[in-house]
Amino acid sequence: MLTTNKAIQKIKKIGVLTGGGDCPGLNAVIRAVVKSGIRQHGVEVVGLINGFAGLIHGEYRMLTEHAVSGILPRGGTILGTTNRDNPFRYAVQEKGETVFQDLSDQAIENMQQLGIEALAIIGGDGTLAIAHQFYQKGVPVVGIPKTIDNDLSATDVTFGFDTALTTACEAIDKLHTTAESHHRVMVLEVMGRYAGWIALHAGLSGGADVILIPEKPFSIEKVCAKVHERCSQGKKFSIVVVAEGAAFEGGEMVVQRLVQESHDPVRLGGIGQQVANAVEKCAGLETRVTVLGHLQRGGSPTAYDRILGTRFGVMAVNLLAAGQFGQMVALKGTEILAVSLEEAISRLKRVDPEGEMVQTAQSVGISFGT
Ligand code: F6P
Repeated sequence: MLTTNKAIQKIKKIGVLTGGGDCPGLNAVIRAVVKSGIRQHGVEVVGLINGFAGLIHGEYRMLTEHAVSGILPRGGTILGTTNRDNPFRYAVQEKGETVFQDLSDQAIENMQQLGIEALAIIGGDGTLAIAHQFYQKGVPVVGIPKTIDNDLSATDVTFGFDTALTTACEAIDKLHTTAESHHRVMVLEVMGRYAGWIALHAGLSGGADVILIPEKPFSIEKVCAKVHERCSQGKKFSIVVVAEGAAFEGGEMVVQRLVQESHDPVRLGGIGQQVANAVEKCAGLETRVTVLGHLQRGGSPTAYDRILGTRFGVMAVNLLAAGQFGQMVALKGTEILAVSLEEAISRLKRVDPEGEMVQTAQSVGISFGT
């Protein structure tokens, strides 16, 4: 196996895996890795099944050009994924109890047995942190940033975000017509974890009246003031977009469940209903809540995500072939370049609460409940 401190030699076989939550555009990346790997660099490509679980258990399929034919418009990942199987902290049952084991050496042995010399690892912050751990153990890796949340600081955009945003924007358009007909307040809860990117962009593109994001704790009185202002202008309906990580002033994020085996066990959800209840009470208008949930992760990727995924996939293979390991591909401005994995996982990218996007939204009358 190649190691990171060994002289660069021609790689003959690479592995690719998708880890963490799925996201539209994963298949575009896989396709690009396979096609450019074979055509530009003459490598064989092994697809590991279900993320790092495939490395731990030695489950794989060979990815030929034929195997990736027709997958560009498909949502999800043809390789399968999981956000539970961390090789460095793998959950096993012992005497009826869950204990965690480090199976990273087993994963590396499987990699060697399969003849895989380097890995293209597609994932969000959790998966990329594991990629970095493997790199520190001498495994040649390159990371490819994916997440609908768009919360990775080292890249301007992650693929998947644009599709999620488009789905959320369409949902707002649909909620508008029913809200107006029934003179109701419609609350839409969207994903995004600790960052308000989906809520902010969807709210702006869909013409929401209120956007609530984790970066700006909100007061329900201010939210209701906006609803009342609209009523006084003869608009007896309002659209409120709430990020799942948003919280009342002085309150906490609403946790829906804990997934212990996951890199970040916290699963958020439920703030939409709380906002709807409070708005109905103080605004005196009938209110309904829609939780958009995993619809945001499903379906065919937008053209933007297909292109970004393809550019990321091609660049990742170029980096592997050039022996530039421990890097993550990133979009900066209009360019695709490499940043260190260490830097990429060091902090999350969150909305600047006083930034231009927020100010733009405020300029067109959108309230953040502040
Ligand atoms: O990170 C992507 C994401 O969809 C978040 O927006 C959301 O909080 C979380 O994953 C949901 O995870 P799960 O699929 O485990 O419910």
